[in-house]
Amino acid sequence: MASTKHVSVMCNEVIEMSKLKKGMTVVDATLGGGGYTLEIYKRIMPGGTLIAIDADITAIKQFEKDYSEIAKNIQIVHSNYSHIRKILKDLNIERVNAIVADLGLSSDQIYKTDRGFSFMNEDRLDMRMNQFNKLTANFVVNDYSQEELTRIIKEFGDEKFATVIAKNIYKHRPVQNTKFLASIIVDSIPDRVKRKQKIHPATKTFQAIRMEVNKELDHLKIFLTEGINVLQKSGHFSVVSFHSGEDRVVKNIFRANARGCICDVDMPICVCNNRPKVRIVTKKPIKPKEKEIRNNSCSRSARLRVVEKL
Ligand SMILES: C[S@@+](CC[C@H](N)C(=O)[O-])C[C@H]1O[C@@H](n2cnc3c(N)ncnc32)[C@H](O)[C@@H]1O
Repeated sequence: MASTKHVSVMCNEVIEMSKLKKGMTVVDATLGGGGYTLEIYKRIMPGGTLIAIDADITAIKQFEKDYSEIAKNIQIVHSNYSHIRKILKDLNIERVNAIVADLGLSSDQIYKTDRGFSFMNEDRLDMRMNQFNKLTANFVVNDYSQEELTRIIKEFGDEKFATVIAKNIYKHRPVQNTKFLASIIVDSIPDRVKRKQKIHPATKTFQAIRMEVNKELDHLKIFLTEGINVLQKSGHFSVVSFHSGEDRVVKNIFRANARGCICDVDMPICVCNNRPKVRIVTKKPIKPKEKEIRNNSCSRSARLRVVEKL
C-alpha cells in the first residue's frame, strides 16, 4: 500500500502527450509521490530506462519503501533537476526520448509538519525541498533586508501588499514559526480585500519565500534549457506548472527554443538567428478537466505545456 497522500495532477494528459513506447528512455524530473513514474514504467517496460529525480530525499525514500520492486528496475537520483545533463552523463546516457516534470510541491511535503511549507501548522521556518541545502526560510524571513523581502514577495508572489507585508515582518522580527509568520501576513492585508479572496491571505507570500529558499525559477530555467538539449529528435518535453510565474518561464523558454533564439529569454526582441530546436505542441496550455478539478482542487491552477524536439 502506497503511503503517499499526493494525488497526481494531469497524469493522463502528460502520459498521452509523451508518446511513450516500450524500450524508451524517459526522465521523470519530479518523482514526488511516484504517480507519473509508475505510469511511465508500465508503458516503457520491459526494455526501457526510467530515470526519476527528486530534490527531496524523503520522497525518494518513501517511493523506494512503497515500490521496492519497481525502484530496483529504475534509476532514482537525489538531485536538482537543473543538473539533468550531469545526471544523464553519470549514467552514460546521451539522449532521452521524453522528459516530464510536475513542478512545485507534493501534498506529502505540504502537510508534513516538520517542513515549514504550510501556514496551517506551527512549524519551524524551513521550506527547503532539499534538506541538505543551507538557505532556509528562517534566514530569508529574519535576515533579509526589508527591501529584499519586498522584492521577492512582489516578484515571486505577485502580491499587491508586498510592501506592507515586508514592513510588518521586519517590525516583528525575530519571527519564530510559520503560524506567527502567517498571522503577520494576514494582519497586513485589509479586511475588505481578505473578504473577497478565494485563497488564504498568506498563500502568495509563503509561495514567494519558498521560491526564494529553493531558487526555483533559476533552477527551472536551467532545467528547461538543458532538458531540450538532451532530448532525442521527436522526443517530447511536458511540463506542468502551478502559478503564473512558473508558467511564464516555461512559455518563454519553450518559445525561445522554437524560434531558435539563444538570447536571454527575458528580452522582448530576438537579435540572433539560430535553427529552431523544438516545435510547440500546445499552442495554448492544457488545463485540467472539470472532473479532475472537482475531485482534486489542488489541480485547479495546473497548466501543461509540451514541446517536441526537431
Ligand atoms: C508536484 S510533486 C510531483 C508529483 C508526481 N508527479 C506524482 O505524480 O506523484 C513535485 C516534486 O518535485 C520535487 N521538486 C521540485 N523542484 C525540484 C527540483 N528543482 N529538482 C528536483 N526535484 C524537484 C519536489 O520535491 C516534489 O517531490
